[in-house]
Amino acid sequence: MKTTKSKSHANTATAEYAIEESKLLKLFEDELKDIYWAEKALTKALPKMAKNATSQELIDALQSHLEETEEQVQKVEQVFAILGKKPVAKKCEAMDGLIKEAQEIMESTDEGAMRDAGIISAGQKVEHYEIATYGTLRTFARTLGLNDAADILEEILNEEKNADQKLTEIAESTINIQAAEEEE
Ligand SMILES: [Fe+2]
Ligand SMILES: [Fe+2]
Repeated sequence: MKTTKSKSHANTATAEYAIEESKLLKLFEDELKDIYWAEKALTKALPKMAKNATSQELIDALQSHLEETEEQVQKVEQVFAILGKKPVAKKCEAMDGLIKEAQEIMESTDEGAMRDAGIISAGQKVEHYEIATYGTLRTFARTLGLNDAADILEEILNEEKNADQKLTEIAESTINIQAAEEEE
């Protein structure tokens, strides 16, 4: 077992399996353009989600994450600057889809706790996408020796993780099943 593991690890450490630095940098830049588009789109989507929410705790969480997201747009711009590049946004199909899904959920749910549950669900999908992206970008930046960029990306990563955690807490504390008697 141990032998197999170390053998396969050795196989991946060959020159043929490695990525050229310039190609990793290209991948890094492409993903940065993608998340830059996504963050900008979220600065427009989050206010709509807050407007549709009922729970004050949820509204506050969405508004405070909106402020954080506006700062994240600037932080991503700082990463472009570290690369010596102008910030360029490239449409992120995944985030576009997640935002469309959020819109659909808001249109198809009754206002109140049900819509709030839908908003939380859509919001957490967004946060998880961001967590995956920033985790990757941080690792790429470290691999490329871009430590200042990696630090910024890790800071954003932690903000996304906190936003996700906050949504979990709100879901657990505010969304309850209505008693059957009350419904009738
Ligand atoms: Fe973000
Ligand atoms: Fe976020």
